[in-house]
Amino acid sequence: MATRTPVIAGNWKMNTDVESGLKLAKGIAELSGAVGGVDKIVCPPFVSIASVAQALAGSSIQVGAQNVSANTDGAFTGEVSTSMLQSLVSHAIVGHSERRVLYGETSVQVAEKAVAAANAGITPVLCIGEDLSVRKLGNAESFVAAQLEASLSGVTDWDSLIVAYEPVWAIGTGEAATSDQAQEMTTVCRQVIRSLAPNAADSVRVLYGGSVNSGNVVELLAQPDIDGALVGGASLKAEEFSKLIAAAGAS
Ligand code: 13P
Repeated sequence: MATRTPVIAGNWKMNTDVESGLKLAKGIAELSGAVGGVDKIVCPPFVSIASVAQALAGSSIQVGAQNVSANTDGAFTGEVSTSMLQSLVSHAIVGHSERRVLYGETSVQVAEKAVAAANAGITPVLCIGEDLSVRKLGNAESFVAAQLEASLSGVTDWDSLIVAYEPVWAIGTGEAATSDQAQEMTTVCRQVIRSLAPNAADSVRVLYGGSVNSGNVVELLAQPDIDGALVGGASLKAEEFSKLIAAAGAS
């Protein structure tokens, strides 16, 4: 089986301004810059990406976007294209549940964004996950499998892909999935990848996201199919985020 380098990615969401974002990025670089054996990524808001990228240039911390347009250029007010991001970021989150739920993004659109990102040399961090009603009905596995399959439509660059399983009910609630639940669902994600691209299934990193913190990260990362974490709240404090990085580096 391929060895998969763990990933710790921080999704800052709509938090931090330019000044505080810069401070956070520098704090993370100071505490975690020397930690090896883990891919470290911060995803600031668009307005901070340029200054954060500049501050982290030459460090081991990579920068990602929280979203990206599937269109190349033109009349798309408020959107940001891959070519605008290309020189600044290595990764882009696509299909976060907040974008799906609050802004009506469909899996078709998410797949288009993933393809556009990969074509531009930006690794998509593709998010999927069920909400509480789906889980309560016992349909989490089939829902996530279908959502992931649809969100991977047209994806062919399997070397440039990270998948993040983020159950909606665990995001920002302080109630993370148990390591068993997270393992079960990341296995489902890997099975979907295997069905589409048998050779890629053992090398694509599958992350867990949803209330990850320094208290639960070790157990989550110990699961065989969990290759890292996509982190919201705990990525906004340099010390806490660096604890997650240290745990992944040691895993
Ligand atoms: P929290 O870590 O705040 O639950 O957020 C998870 C998330 O949505 C990361 O994308």
